[in-house]
This record gives sequence, structure tokens and C-alpha cells, in this order.
Amino acid sequence: MAQVTNTEFLYKSQLQKMEWTFANVSTKKYTHALHLYPARMHPEIAKQIIEKYSKDKTDVVLDPFMGSGGVLLEAMMHGNQSIGIDINPFATLLSNVKTTPIHKDLNPILTGILSNSSRDYLNKEYHLECLPNKLDVENWYKPDTIKILSILKHNVFEIRDEDVRDFFKICFSLTVRKSSYQRNGAWKIHRISDSDKIEFNPQPMDMFKQIAENNITKMTGMVNAMPKGKAHILLGDSRDITGNLEKINNNILQDKKVHLVVTSPPYGDHGTTVAYGQFSKHSSLWLELPKEKALTVDSVGLGGQYKTGGDLGSVMLNTTLDKVRKNDIELTKNKKPCRTEAVYSFFYDLDKCLNEISQNLVPKKSYCCFVVANRTVRRVVIPTDLITIELGMKYGFNVDKIIHRNIPNKSMPSKNAPENVTKKTGKTMTRESIIIMKY
Ligand SMILES: C[S@@+](CC[C@H](N)C(=O)[O-])C[C@H]1O[C@@H](n2cnc3c(N)ncnc32)[C@H](O)[C@@H]1O
Repeated sequence: MAQVTNTEFLYKSQLQKMEWTFANVSTKKYTHALHLYPARMHPEIAKQIIEKYSKDKTDVVLDPFMGSGGVLLEAMMHGNQSIGIDINPFATLLSNVKTTPIHKDLNPILTGILSNSSRDYLNKEYHLECLPNKLDVENWYKPDTIKILSILKHNVFEIRDEDVRDFFKICFSLTVRKSSYQRNGAWKIHRISDSDKIEFNPQPMDMFKQIAENNITKMTGMVNAMPKGKAHILLGDSRDITGNLEKINNNILQDKKVHLVVTSPPYGDHGTTVAYGQFSKHSSLWLELPKEKALTVDSVGLGGQYKTGGDLGSVMLNTTLDKVRKNDIELTKNKKPCRTEAVYSFFYDLDKCLNEISQNLVPKKSYCCFVVANRTVRRVVIPTDLITIELGMKYGFNVDKIIHRNIPNKSMPSKNAPENVTKKTGKTMTRESIIIMKY
């Protein structure tokens, strides 16, 4: 009979029977759905956690893996200040736009962009200097789409007000995505088939108009809800939260520390789980976001660089690594048993982040909520929830609650390649664990 470890026992005793699927709660309220982003957290999770665990409005909420900024938006709507960190420049742009209320009427500005763009198109004034470097546009767009996108970008980049310009950059980014040969619903970059290309006839100007009109309605909804909090967004690495928080004004942070962490880290290394860098590559190149950072998201993200190191102090992790190692050798016939290192490297980095989080929380008054899912590597389920708890306990975290939630509509591919073998696919995660730890 398999032995039950102390953590498994603790886990079972703290598991709450709560229905947190939120299948009927919209994920699109306020500015939540201005743009696609992979593996977004259901906003209701952030809302419920912030309502329950922030004691008052002066509590500062941190999301060290901010992604599209949903946690920050919910903190703002609740009246709290928040700080978000992400290594992906596109995530910081999107989060900024999502959490910056724009009070002026955006409709006349949209009309201006559209009429200037139509005029330029009729006059054949293409702005080919606006085409992205390092992107073979001919392989991704129809020739006419390239011209229209160059014109639209020129007219968006001409806008003087930075907040307004960024808002329309996000609308432009979605247009770039939808008018390209990129396969819909795929987070990695895949082209549609040659036969589908012939049928594909995007109208980028109409697309941009429709996207912008929708987003203006969302922005108006957010502004009308009168958010009281403010979000502070940092492009940085959460293996150094202390260094990142140095950049935040002293008036916001009590003793430079935060009170509540709400976050969903990556599921594993980006290469074999969700490649956030690949997802945003084309948008980042079109929008001229810092190139070195935009193109290295997946190799710099958690678990991106192979680490060799010692025992991280988690029994669960060690047992899991042994199982992966065994299957690594058996399934690859010793060819390249590399997945054990990949799993270890991810937890090595996550461990660093947990240590950093603990150093930046107000002691004895803080909570930390991690939303994680247990992925499968080499047919072994990786108990990320249990491992996170064990690693967290080393730094003084104690489990307060664990909630399981089915994932009804998370933006994730329905299949993945857990063994990295062509055509060998498996189902992706259908359940998340919401771990709430006290510090
Ligand atoms: C699961 S997503 C977060 C999704 C987010 N909760 C939302 O609702 O959009 C994980 C994020 O972690 C970021 N990330 C990966 N490694 C990082 C690191 N070392 N430091 C900061 N962010 C990182 C990725 O770029 C990605 O945006």
C-alpha cells in the first residue's frame, strides 16, 4: 500500500468542499477580456480571495505572475492598491491598459484612426516602415493585409496621449492576430493549412473597428464602476521580487512589504506547457516592445534554463522526480532522458519565488494564494499543489485552505504533447487547486 506522507494528510484535512467552478460567472466583465491571453485566472477566484483575505483597503495585493492583469483589476475594483510583475513585455502592456481607466470619449479617436487609415489606403500611402523587424510578414499575411496593417499601425502610433495610444495598440494587436494565418485557438504559433489560406479573406479595417468598439464599451463599463484602487505594473522577474519592489514608491508599501499574494504561476517550463512568449511574439514585434525581452520569454520564464542542484526539501518532489526519471529512461529508450531535469528546473525556480514572496509579506498578517494545476510528464502526474505546499512550508507558510475547482472554460488547448513525441497527445489539466497559505 502506498504510504501517505504528512503533507498528503494535511492536504486532505484542509481540502474544502466548495463549488468554485463559476461556470455561470462571466470572465468578461469590465476590461477583463480586452485581449486574449493564455491560461487566464477566472476573475471570480481573485475577487473572492481578495474580498476574504484583504483586511482593509490599505492592504497591497501582489501578483508575481501577473499575465493579463486580471488579479490587479479585481484588486482595483475592490479598492486596493496592487502590484503585478511579469517577464513578458506584452503582459505588462495588456495589464497596464486593463487597469488604466480612460475617462475621455474614445469614439471620436477611433473615427479619426479609421478615416485617416481609409484615406491613406485610397491614396496608396502605405507605411511599410511600420512593418515589424524579424517577422517574415509575407508568410503570415495576405499582401493587402500587410498594407492595411501598416497604415493602421501608423495611425495608432500617431496618437499623442500615451494611455489612449496603448489602448488602441491592444486593439491593433488583436487585429494583427486575427488577420494572420495563425491558427485560431492555438497558443503556439501554427499556420493554417494551405487550402484554408485560399479561403481566408480577412478585412483588417473592419476587424479593428469591431474590436475597438467592443473594447471601448468594456473600458466605459470599467470607468463607470469607479474603481478606487490603483495598479502598479512591473516588467521583471519574480525570482527577484525584492529588487522589483524597490522600484515601487515607499508611500504604497508598508515597510516595503505586501499583505496578500494572489497568483497563478506557469504550469511548468513554457516550452512543454504554455509558451507565453510564442503566444505574444507577433504582437510584440508589431508593437515594437523591447525585442530582447519579448523574444526570450520562454527561455527566461520559470524552468526555462536547466538547473542542476541539490534536494529542494520536498519529499513529494523527490518521489515524483524518481518516477519521471524511471519513465524518462524507459519511454525514450535512454535516447534523451531530459524531462526529469525540466521538472526539477521548474521547481528550483518556483522555490526561489516562494522564498522571495515570503521575504516580502508582512509577517503574521498575510496570506498567499496560488492557483495551480497538476500536469503530466512522462505519464507521471506532477503533484504541483502538494509540492508547492511543501516548498512553502520551508519558508514559514502554513496551509489555511485548499479548494479544488473544475476548469470549464479556461483558455487552454484541449490536448498537449506530454511526452514530447510527435502525434502522441494527452488531455490537458481539467482541475485546478487553489491553495491558500497563511504567513
Ligand atoms: C499562468 S500565467 C498568469 C495568468 C494570469 N493569472 C492571468 O489571469 O492572465 C503565468 C505568467 O507567468 C509569467 N512568468 C513566467 N516566468 C516568470 C518569471 N520568472 N517572473 C515573472 N513572470 C513570469 C508568464 O509570462 C505568464 O504571463
